[in-house]
Amino acid sequence: MNIIELDRLCLHYSLNGARIDVLRDVTLSIPAGQSVAVAGPSGSGKTSLLLLLAGLEQPASGHVTLDGVRLGEQGRDALADLRRDRIGIVFQSFHLLPSLTALDNVALPLQIAGQRDAYPRARDFLRRVGLAAREGHYPGQLSGGEQQRVAIARALVHGPRLLLADEPTGNLDDHTGALVRELLFALNRDTGTTLVLVTHDLDFAARCDRVLRLHEGQLHEHTHRPTAAAAPAPREPAHAD
Ligand SMILES: Nc1ncnc2c1ncn2[C@@H]1O[C@H](COP(=O)(O)OP(=O)(O)O)[C@@H](O)[C@H]1O
Ligand SMILES: [Mg+2]
Repeated sequence: MNIIELDRLCLHYSLNGARIDVLRDVTLSIPAGQSVAVAGPSGSGKTSLLLLLAGLEQPASGHVTLDGVRLGEQGRDALADLRRDRIGIVFQSFHLLPSLTALDNVALPLQIAGQRDAYPRARDFLRRVGLAAREGHYPGQLSGGEQQRVAIARALVHGPRLLLADEPTGNLDDHTGALVRELLFALNRDTGTTLVLVTHDLDFAARCDRVLRLHEGQLHEHTHRPTAAAAPAPREPAHAD
């Protein structure tokens, strides 16, 4: 079953009378459980694509179907429910609430969903991104990389079926970036969470099942190796070729 289907998706922005064509007739299927890296130059529409997938941006034409639900046919409340229940989103600019501590930011989606174990779960996810010692800090008291990890914990805490993440390791040092990568791939492997990640990190992209490149409004399949379940991956030396 495909968790994402894009059917002849077009997106353009109009600015001061000029039209910017961002996506032109993009058609794509992503099976549930796949890990997909989206690459492409700055301004190629990667962030716009994630916003469309989350129902936070509307296409000029074409359809986005997520987990069998056609987004264009949903009202605002239904879209918000869908996001809350099935999607985790890590924005490039994190979007943490400045008046809440790291722990409260992570617990919030669970509290909104009325879950009793909001705080133990939120603590567990902060620990998993290496931030147990920062739970009482407000976003303004955290570095960019720490805020990014809080945003990742918040996106994952409710166990989404789909994680959309915009350069999730973009602000992290090598060690912390590796920690976050391992967390995301472990989640993908253990719970079947589908990953759609915008990334410039070549190592990260190479470990995904699939790499898509966005160029001049079109998505190109860069590599697509079979998932581990379909065929064992050949053993290769660790260096990039
Ligand atoms: N709200 C907007 N209004 C007008 N133009 C926009 C808007 N958002 C993005 N753009 C333009 O659309 C193009 C794609 O942007 P974006 O999706 O952010 O690219 P990327 O994430 O690949 O850098 C860019 O040229 C950008 O300037
Ligand atoms: Mg972007």
